[in-house]
Formats: sequence, C-alpha cells, structure tokens
Amino acid sequence: MSAIAIMCSGGDSSGMNPAIKKFVDYAYEIGLTPYLIYDGFEGLIDGNIKQASHENVAGIIHLGGTVIRTSRSKRFFEKEYREIGFQNLQKYGIDKLVVLGGDGSFRGMDIFCKEFNISFIGIPSTIDNDIAGTEYCLGVDTALNVIKNALDDIRDTGSSFKRAFVIETMGRGCGYLALISALTSGAEICLIPEIEYDLDSLKVKLQGQIKNGRTYIIAIVSEALKNTDMLQKWIESELEFETRVMVLGHIQRGGSPSVYDRLMAFEFISLSIDKLLQGKCNEVIVYNGGEFSFKTINEVVQGKYTIKPELLKLASRLSK
Ligand code: F6P
Repeated sequence: MSAIAIMCSGGDSSGMNPAIKKFVDYAYEIGLTPYLIYDGFEGLIDGNIKQASHENVAGIIHLGGTVIRTSRSKRFFEKEYREIGFQNLQKYGIDKLVVLGGDGSFRGMDIFCKEFNISFIGIPSTIDNDIAGTEYCLGVDTALNVIKNALDDIRDTGSSFKRAFVIETMGRGCGYLALISALTSGAEICLIPEIEYDLDSLKVKLQGQIKNGRTYIIAIVSEALKNTDMLQKWIESELEFETRVMVLGHIQRGGSPSVYDRLMAFEFISLSIDKLLQGKCNEVIVYNGGEFSFKTINEVVQGKYTIKPELLKLASRLSK
C-alpha cells in the first residue's frame, strides 16, 4: 500500500483536527497507509512519525488546535536537516505529504520537494487569512466566531458604563480579522494596515455621535498596526472617554472548529489526497468564488494577499 503523511506547521488553527481525522479515514478508505508526523518540521527531522490508526483520530473532530502538534522550525531551512527529514520519510516509504500551514511552510516544502522525490500539497491554514491566491484559509471562520463572542461580551460591560473599549485582534501583517469583526460586530472604529485612517475626521464624526447620545465606543485594531496603545490614548484625550484595552491574543486560535471549518477541512483534505494520487505534484490547494483549485507554490508564496475592495470600502467609514 502506498504511504502518505500529514503534518502541521506554523501557527495552529481550528479545523486542523477535523482535517487530520478526514485524512486518516479517507486514506484508509481508498487503500493508502496514513502516517502522522508530530511536531511539524521539527518532528520530521527528529523522526516523530507514526502510522495512524482510526483510534488516533477518534473523538477529535470537535477539538481546536492540533492533536499532532505543530512547530515553527528553523532547522528545516538548513539542507542537512532536510536530508535527515527525507531519510525519516524513506524509512516508512512515504513519498506523499499533506502540510497544513502557511506560506513560510510552503516555501520550505517547495525546496524539500525539489531536492527529494516527494509529492506535496499544502493546505492554507492560518487564522490570519493572509495567504496569496486563496480567499479562505482553514480556521478563519472559527477565529471570527471566537472574536464575535468576545466582542458581544465586551459590549455588555462597555455599554454599562460611559466607556470605550479598544480591542486588538490578531493578524501578523493583515487586517482581515479586525475588518470582518468590526463590520459584523457593529464597531465604531476599525484600524487596519490596508486602510489609511484619518483620526481628525473620526474625531469630528464621533463627537457628533456623542452629542447625539452615544454612550460607549467599540474600537477594533489589528495587531499588525502596533498602535493599540496610541488609539487608547487618543480616545481618552480627544473624545474624553475612559478607555480600556483588551488584547484578545491567543484565545483567537482556540475553540471548537465551526461547522464551516469542519466542512472546509474535509474538502481540502479529500481533494488534496486525490490530487496526490494523480502523480508527482508540488502545489497548494486554494478556494476562490466557491471553487477549489490548485496553484503552484510560487504563485502562492510570491503573491500578496489582498482583501476584497468591496470589504475595504465597507470598513473605510470606520477609519475616517
Ligand atoms: O498563526 C498566526 C498568528 O496567530 C498571528 O496572528 C500572530 O501574529 C502569531 O501567529 C502569533 O504567533 P505565536 O503563536 O508564535 O505567538
């Protein structure tokens, strides 16, 4: 039986566990032997590879995180360690890999596949939704729901005082989480790197609203801007509102995978395995306009993810 392995790399995202479960179940269904590589590229180098049984993936579909763990590996970017990783795969006859990760991981895999006889499909998985060439990355919907729940709760206390809350969402270099959360939670302010903001006009607008009876303010800011504290001070001095800061942090990466992420995980996985069975490949599965397709790693790692102009337009009124 042909051997195939799965691993995670980089930040975990909710949806990885349903993907791992589907990987094992589907592989057995079509006559492949599935392997789990624990601890990402670090585990690949250290030989932390096990043949999967149905038992390994029973009762994980509803869990956030990843039961096979992940890592951000520096060693994998050195040839001598990639060589060790390849030897470890050879021990089990594994020549097909599915990697749940981001563009950094795909870049590493691109080098690996060119050096050795390995076929690879990358599944975009990050809550940041910042991978070029795909509208959707696994885990984004769950993260947005975690943020939505937090914002609903903060609103309860925020609206009970005459207060502002500045809430920082994750997104290393991308404002997607902040933008969608601000729109869907009815925030008054949204600052993200993709939209030029204008504090003077925001001030005039919010002062008008305050005169008309606004008693609290919810401001969402992306971590990518690194200006959460500035925004707090600005609201306190310019709008004269007592202001609390809430950095949502890593809770955004947790939580039971949403129905949408479970379904996306299943489709990403089964299509990726089907693709690997068609012959040698070194690609990333992407999702655009309701359709799945495959892109070369170069197309994905060399491009830049851009948020849809329609969404930017909707959010721009919260930045000016
Ligand atoms: O996975 C993406 C992400 O959560 C970013 O939003 C964030 O900037 C980063 O990872 C945090 O990384 P770490 O978990 O290593 O602190």
